[in-house]
Amino acid sequence: MLALVSRHAGPLAGDPQVPGDKSISHRALMLGAVTVGGVSISGLLEGEDVLATAAAMRALGASVERHGDGRWQVFGRGIGGLVAPPSVLDMGNSGTGARLLLGLLATHPLTATMSGDKSLSERPMERVMAPLREMGARFVGADDGRLPVTVTGAVDPLPIEYELPVASAQVKSAVLLAGLNAPGRTSVIEPEPTRDHTERMLRHLGADIEVTDEGGRRRIVLAGQLEMSGGDIIVPGDISSAAFPLVAAVVTPGSRLALRGVGFNPLRVGVIETLNEMGAAIEVTGRHDEGGELVADLEISASALRSIEVAAERTQSMIDEYPILAVAAAFAEGTSRFHGLGELRVKESDRLAAMAKGLAAAGVGVKESGDSLIVHGCGGLVPGGTDIAVELDHRIAMAFLVLGLAAEAPVVIDDASAIDSSFPGFVALMNGLGAAIEKA
Ligand code: S3P
Repeated sequence: MLALVSRHAGPLAGDPQVPGDKSISHRALMLGAVTVGGVSISGLLEGEDVLATAAAMRALGASVERHGDGRWQVFGRGIGGLVAPPSVLDMGNSGTGARLLLGLLATHPLTATMSGDKSLSERPMERVMAPLREMGARFVGADDGRLPVTVTGAVDPLPIEYELPVASAQVKSAVLLAGLNAPGRTSVIEPEPTRDHTERMLRHLGADIEVTDEGGRRRIVLAGQLEMSGGDIIVPGDISSAAFPLVAAVVTPGSRLALRGVGFNPLRVGVIETLNEMGAAIEVTGRHDEGGELVADLEISASALRSIEVAAERTQSMIDEYPILAVAAAFAEGTSRFHGLGELRVKESDRLAAMAKGLAAAGVGVKESGDSLIVHGCGGLVPGGTDIAVELDHRIAMAFLVLGLAAEAPVVIDDASAIDSSFPGFVALMNGLGAAIEKA
């Protein structure tokens, strides 16, 4: 356990490089492992979640080599070419790693056992196992729908048409990755759009994939058992990680920050829209396409924030940003309401409960009401002065460290180790901007 304290700091300034996008990094390693030509990756996130996926792909027979900072080469085994691993696949803290890999393995004729840490072992896996069973996979040992599980992939996989019962990019991606080695066409229908990195990367690597908009619903159709040739993948900065220094700069008076090369996928930018609507000065420039993904530069200045009400429709575009948005709302003037947050209860921790409890302990008026979070903003003067138990949740840890920077009294988090899963070097980066975060 590494306890940290975050104290009131002066203005933040700089133009740091935020780490690579976690979602795209997992997909680059997994898809690379089933190409025939292999992929050269730059900007890969070297956080623990992604390193667990890299180790898993190696154990499944792909050649995965690190050539330098964020530069990796994966030599794939072709569609359906992965082999049984010699030991248990430990996916650490990563729901994305676990769920996507179950999808990939579901249509490989092999048996593999997957485990995770305490947080991951409490997260629901039935949501991916249900469609993957329809495709012919068998699962043993997860009767409660939780890891560890042993998966035996289908020898004769079936393509399916699957309508997502829950808006989840992980479930969508698991079915599509399974569909890569099913004959014919596998379809996923999503009632509301979720991040589409899998679709974009499949297209980029030469897969036969079609996406059509059916009046708000999206139908994704993938042709299986066709080889993917491979290529180069440039991983942009992770907008979900960028959100922490970004909000820190917004709420710390006098700050100015530039974040360049941040992924700006239209299905991920809800946090920027929301903060802009709250009055944050965020300028977006230099939008351009890089290997099928949109990338942009952000310039941020400290701003007085006002409260906001956010409807459930926006949830998917900023599903991982609610912890830090709740912190922004704590510094705003007025009462903010965020709706449609049921899925936050099954993230790395129950984030709805964690934010409500932590903000209350920091002297902020807050209420959990069903699937909504209501935050009575302090108008720039958050008391702070509390200890937070982060329950292996990297985003809860970073959100409260940011709160401490602009609060009146220091905030202590009990364990910073989970931060490495998505944002290695977070503390050094923040302190380089002028923050005061140190061992408690
Ligand atoms: C992710 C999808 C989201 C998100 C997670 C990453 C992905 O999860 O919260 O951090 O890479 O597909 P759900 O699919 O469970 O909403």
